[in-house]
Amino acid sequence: MQGGGEQREMWGSRIGFILAAAGSAIGLGNIWRFPYVLGESGGFAFLVVYIFFVLFIGIPIMAAELAIGRGSGRNPVGAFRLLKAGTPWWLVGAMGILTGVIILSYYSVVAGWTLNYVIKAVATFDTAFATSETAEGTFNHFLSSSGQQVLFHFLFMILCIVVVSQGIKGGIERWSKILMPTLLVLLVLLIVRAVTLPGAGAGLAFLLQPDFTKLNLNVILTALGQAFYSLSLGMGAIITYGSYLNKKENLFSSATTIAGLDMGIALMAGLAIFPAVFAMGFEASSGPGLTYIVLPRVFAELPAGQILAIIFFVLLSIAALTSAISLLEVMVTFVTDELKWPRSRATIIMAAVAFVLGVPSALGFGVWSEITIFGQSFFDASDFITANVMLPLGGLFIALFVGWGWDIEKVKKEISMGHTTLRFFTVWIWILRIAAPIALLAIFISNIAA
Ligand code: TRP
Repeated sequence: MQGGGEQREMWGSRIGFILAAAGSAIGLGNIWRFPYVLGESGGFAFLVVYIFFVLFIGIPIMAAELAIGRGSGRNPVGAFRLLKAGTPWWLVGAMGILTGVIILSYYSVVAGWTLNYVIKAVATFDTAFATSETAEGTFNHFLSSSGQQVLFHFLFMILCIVVVSQGIKGGIERWSKILMPTLLVLLVLLIVRAVTLPGAGAGLAFLLQPDFTKLNLNVILTALGQAFYSLSLGMGAIITYGSYLNKKENLFSSATTIAGLDMGIALMAGLAIFPAVFAMGFEASSGPGLTYIVLPRVFAELPAGQILAIIFFVLLSIAALTSAISLLEVMVTFVTDELKWPRSRATIIMAAVAFVLGVPSALGFGVWSEITIFGQSFFDASDFITANVMLPLGGLFIALFVGWGWDIEKVKKEISMGHTTLRFFTVWIWILRIAAPIALLAIFISNIAA
C-alpha cells in the first residue's frame, strides 16, 4: 500500500519520470560549472574520476533516495516517519525541505537573470554586448537595479507555479517531456556551431586533454562534490520524485539512466561553450561572469550571433526551470501530504515563501549590499550553507538510513520490485553503509574547513 492519502498521483510513464528527474539534475551546475571545472582540473583525467564517483557514490545514493520515496509513497518528512516511526530520522527529511526552500530562493534569482537575458538577447543584443565594456556594464547595471532583480525573480517563480500547480503527471511530467527534448535540440545546435568554428580545437583541448598531475586530494573532492550536487542529491528531491513512482520500475537502472543523461548534457555543454570561447580568443571561466558577460560577447562576435544568444539563454532558462520545479515540488508534496492542502494552494503559498526568502538575495547586489552574513552576501551565504553544508550532511544521513537505519529485509523487498535479480544489492548496501558516508563526510569537512 502506498501511504500519503487515497488518490495520490503517479507518473504516467517511465520516460516521463526519467525526464523529470533528469530535468531536476540538469541545471545551472551542468552548464556554467561542470565544463570549466573539467577543463581546469585535468580534463579527461578529471572525467575518469568524476565518472567513478557518479557510478560508485552518486548512483547508489540516488537509488537509496528512490527507494525511500517509493517505499513510503510520501514526502521526505513523512517518508522517514512512516519507515521508522518514533525515531528522530524524520529530521533528515525536515532538513532536506529547509535546504530545498533556501536553494529555490536564490536559484530563482539567477534563473530570473537568465529570463532577463532572453529579453536582452532579443531586444537590445546589438548595443548591450557590443564591446567587453558594454557587456560588463550591462550586467552590473542589471545586478544593481533592485526593481528588475525582484521582478524577474518573481516572474520565474510564476513559471514554477504554473508547472507545479498542474500536478505530477499533467504538470511536471508533461512539461518535462516538452522542455527536455527542446533543451537537447538547442544544445546540439550550439555544439554544431561551436565545433565548426576555426580555432575550436583549442577549446576541445582545454576540456579534454588529460593531465593526471592535477589530480590532488582537493581536485578529487571537487569531482565528488560536483557529482553529488549535479545529481540533486541530499535533500529529498529524488525521494519526492520517487514517491510518485510505481512498483514496476527498476530503481538501479532508473538511477543509472538519470545519471547518464546528467553527465551527457554536462559534457555537451562543454562542447557548446569552450570551443566557441577559445575560437573567439576569450579566456575560459565559469559562473555568472562566463554566462552573462563572456558568452554574450562571444555570440556578439559571431555571424548570426543574436540567434545563438537567444538559443543559449532559452536553453539555460529551461535547465533552471526543470530544476526549480523539483525544488518547489518537494515543499508542495510535503504540505499536500501532511496538511492535506489542495495542490494549488500549496503551490502558491510555498512559492511565495521561497520568493520572499529570495528577495534579500536579489537585492544583495544593489541596495542591500551592506547586509552580510559571516562576511558573505545573503546570496553567497545561502549557496554556501546549502551546497557545502546541508546537502552533503543530508546525503550522509540518507546513506546511513538505508544502510543501517531502515530494516534490511524491507530495503531488499523495495529494491527487488522491478528487478529480476539482486546481483548488485550487496555491493550497493555496503557502499551505503561505509563508502558513501566516508565520501560525504570528506566533502563536508573539506567544505567547512575551506
Ligand atoms: N542539480 C542542480 C544543478 O546541477 C542543482 C541542484 C542541487 C538541485 N540540488 C538540487 C536542483 C536539488 C534541484 C533539487 O544545477
